[in-house]
Amino acid sequence: MSYQLQSGINYVPKLDDVQFGRWQNLLEERTGMCLPLQRRSFLQTSLGLRMQEIGCASYEEYYQRVTDGPSGAIEWNTLVDRLTVQETRFFRDPDAYEFVDQYVQQLVTELADDETLECWSVGCSSGEEAYSLAMVADRYLTPLGKRYAVTGTDISTIVLRKARSGRYQPRALEWVPQDYLASSFKTSGINEIEISDRLRKRCCFSQVNILNLEACPLNSQHIIYCQNVLIYFRRWRRREILNVLAERLAPGGILVIGLGEMVDFNHPLLEPVHNGQISAFVRKKTNSTGETARR
Ligand SMILES: C[S@@+](CC[C@H](N)C(=O)[O-])C[C@H]1O[C@@H](n2cnc3c(N)ncnc32)[C@H](O)[C@@H]1O
Repeated sequence: MSYQLQSGINYVPKLDDVQFGRWQNLLEERTGMCLPLQRRSFLQTSLGLRMQEIGCASYEEYYQRVTDGPSGAIEWNTLVDRLTVQETRFFRDPDAYEFVDQYVQQLVTELADDETLECWSVGCSSGEEAYSLAMVADRYLTPLGKRYAVTGTDISTIVLRKARSGRYQPRALEWVPQDYLASSFKTSGINEIEISDRLRKRCCFSQVNILNLEACPLNSQHIIYCQNVLIYFRRWRRREILNVLAERLAPGGILVIGLGEMVDFNHPLLEPVHNGQISAFVRKKTNSTGETARR
């Protein structure tokens, strides 16, 4: 086996075409993520360094290890965390949050006193997206004594742990609009800020593989926010996932995806929002026979 020098100090075995194809297939089959050829050295480094950490001598041996029953599943979790792109920030797409803001202001007038506004951040990474949605909902619902709940889901248990902690570095605040700064955070130690208890108790986080949405019980959602996840998937898979998400919306609910993530998507239950700044859909309030759909 040949070895390559990485980062000046570590040698990792060279990932040949056959091994690259094998790992590429495993990753796509289990997570939906398509790793292009240009990412081969990233895969080689990530696998190679992890193999060194746990004392695996070859890609073959490591492959057997991650595909071997329950202990393999634990190792797979660690690997997925290393291989997925987890970049995120508060209010990452200001135009999309403006759309959410307007929707919430409208919905607040229609929501019954005993109804909860339900939001779902799909592929939430370390939670900034879920908490941003909570901040918007909190702004309009809490003063009226109305309730909201935000669920963040992701495949990586490691980012979910961070999301649950609600703790971030102070520089994360740079992305938070001024209006939310004072009421949404508390200082929790040197060089750390923390989401306020009021917001945190409205948010929960759970491991859900977006390829396995039938196992996820979330339904009747007013807001489904799924940005920067589908871009790593093939188009047919994006379409399948969006078809399921459309069904999980409450009538009148909104589905927000990243701009250009699925340009020609249409679904009989959804009305696209025509706006060059965002990619979003509203679930029709009536079904195909013209009857008002039930919440
Ligand atoms: C680039 S981050 C996007 C975070 C956030 N949505 C945003 O736009 O800032 C992509 C997230 O999708 C998650 N992800 C990738 N494949 C997934 C899958 N099959 N099921 C659920 N989450 C997945 C990754 O773990 C990662 O946290």
